[in-house]
Amino acid sequence: MELVFASSNQNKIKEIASMLGEAFILKGLKDINCTVDIPETSGTIEGNAIQKAMYVYNNFDGIDCFSEDTGLEIKALNMRPGVKTARYAGPEKDADANMDKVLLELGDKKNREARFRTVIAYIKNGNIETFEGIAEGTISFERMGNKGFGYDPVFIPKGYETSFAQMDAEEKNKISHRAKAFQLFLKFIKNQQ
Ligand code: IMP
Repeated sequence: MELVFASSNQNKIKEIASMLGEAFILKGLKDINCTVDIPETSGTIEGNAIQKAMYVYNNFDGIDCFSEDTGLEIKALNMRPGVKTARYAGPEKDADANMDKVLLELGDKKNREARFRTVIAYIKNGNIETFEGIAEGTISFERMGNKGFGYDPVFIPKGYETSFAQMDAEEKNKISHRAKAFQLFLKFIKNQQ
C-alpha cells in the first residue's frame, strides 16, 4: 500500500517508514514533486495537521496521505506556545531562541507542568481520521542535555528526572508524543488492510 506523508523532513520520513514496515511504500512531499511550503494557518494543532493533509489530497489527485503536527503546551502560560511552538520566538524557527523565551516567561514559577501533543491527520478516500499522542512532563529551570532537537533540553517527561535531551532516541521514542500518536495510527491502518 502506498502512503504519502505530508512532510519534507527526511529524518521523520525514515523514522515512520521503519515503523510502517514493508507492507507500505512511504513517500514524502519531494517524492510527489510537492515543493511548496504548505500553509499552516488554522490556529490549532489538529487544524494544521488536517490542513496539511487536505492540501496534498486536494492537489495530488486525492492520494491517500497523512500529516503530523506537534505543539508544546505549558499550563502556566495558558497552554502556549501551542500552535506557535515552532515559531515561538520568531519566523526563524530557532530552537535556542524558543527555549530562551519559554524559560524567561516561566521565570521561577513553581507550576512548570507542560505537555507535548502530536496530532496525525489521515485522509483516505476523502475521509479524515485523527490520532493524538501526549507526553506529559515539566519544563526545567535550565537546559539539560544536548541530544534530540527542539525543546528537548528543557522538557522532563513525567516519571523521569532527565530531560528528553539526556535520553537516547530509542528511550525517547518509547514514551514520546509522536510515538504514541503513530502507534494509534499504525494500529488503525493495519486493521484496515
Ligand atoms: P513539528 O510539528 O514536528 O514540526 O514540530 C513543531 C515544533 O515542536 C518544532 O519547534 C519542534 O522543534 C517542536 N517539537 C516537536 N516535537 C518535539 C520533540 O519531540 N522534542 C522537542 N521539540 C519538539
